Amino acid sequence: MKHFLSMKDVSEYEIQQLVKRTEDMMLGRKEMVHPTTPVFVANLFFEPSTRTKMSFTIAEQRLGLKPLDFQPEVSSVQKGETVYDTAKTLEAIGASLLVIRHPEDHVVQQVASKMSIPVINAGDGTGEHPTQSLLDLVTIYQEFRRFHGLKVAIVGDVKHSRVARSNAYALSTLGAKVYFSSKPEWQDQTLDFPYLDIDEVVETCDVVMLLRIQHERHDQRQSFEQTEYLLNYGLTVEREKRMKPHAIILHPAPVNRGVEIDDCLVECERSRIFKQMTNGVYARMAVMSNLLEDWGIHNEYQASEREALQPQ
Ligand code: CP
Repeated sequence: MKHFLSMKDVSEYEIQQLVKRTEDMMLGRKEMVHPTTPVFVANLFFEPSTRTKMSFTIAEQRLGLKPLDFQPEVSSVQKGETVYDTAKTLEAIGASLLVIRHPEDHVVQQVASKMSIPVINAGDGTGEHPTQSLLDLVTIYQEFRRFHGLKVAIVGDVKHSRVARSNAYALSTLGAKVYFSSKPEWQDQTLDFPYLDIDEVVETCDVVMLLRIQHERHDQRQSFEQTEYLLNYGLTVEREKRMKPHAIILHPAPVNRGVEIDDCLVECERSRIFKQMTNGVYARMAVMSNLLEDWGIHNEYQASEREALQPQ
């Protein structure tokens, strides 16, 4: 792989290999990178994050990489520096891998196209969130050991969700049956998947993947009644009771408790929400180690190149 930007770019075989590598990382079956000379990874988050940023940082440490923390609010972004110049600067001063999150669609892809080091999309606007998708896939695979023929419902604010997009692409590549369920104004007709009513979803699907309501991407004038939303479109206690015995609940989080899902269901028996977060560390280890291997970044050639530039 050159970069990891979109689940649309990844073949069925590549996804399966990444799921397998994630499980290998989890079980300690895959050798860690642990380079002999420092390999720096720049975590360029231009938008808030808890899970993605922290799990990338842990994944980097576990692989023996050196995370470079970046906080846009105390960086030269405040002087008007662009995302591209920030990324190019990190590349110039020695980062070997860039992890970028940005509130605008396609910015990460545009930056990646001009870099000579690998770039991972850690979420771009309403675009994609491919490492979230990989950790979701791993969580599903842990449960069912297959994707083909599984019925997966992606429920909620589809229109504004990068998680919905990445998962719909990846799951359909893997042969799962993907359905959406959403309030009419949050449906996305650019994505060609059937919509089901939430009451049909809970009775027929193997995986119910809820989405956070992306208030920050909504028109401020939209009014919103939380309890009404839960009752009409969300996962209530009553609906959970009608789910198939083996069916599981996913949510990328952060969760709006009591809005997309009843508060008490977040940690119920069939919820895998915190398991998803645990899996995120291993999924990110798998993606980074794969990219570094494919680019040969941790090999001796690279190391001696960097040593030659150090002051005597
Ligand atoms: N799921 C997810 O991307 O969470 P964060 O925004 O906290 O990274």
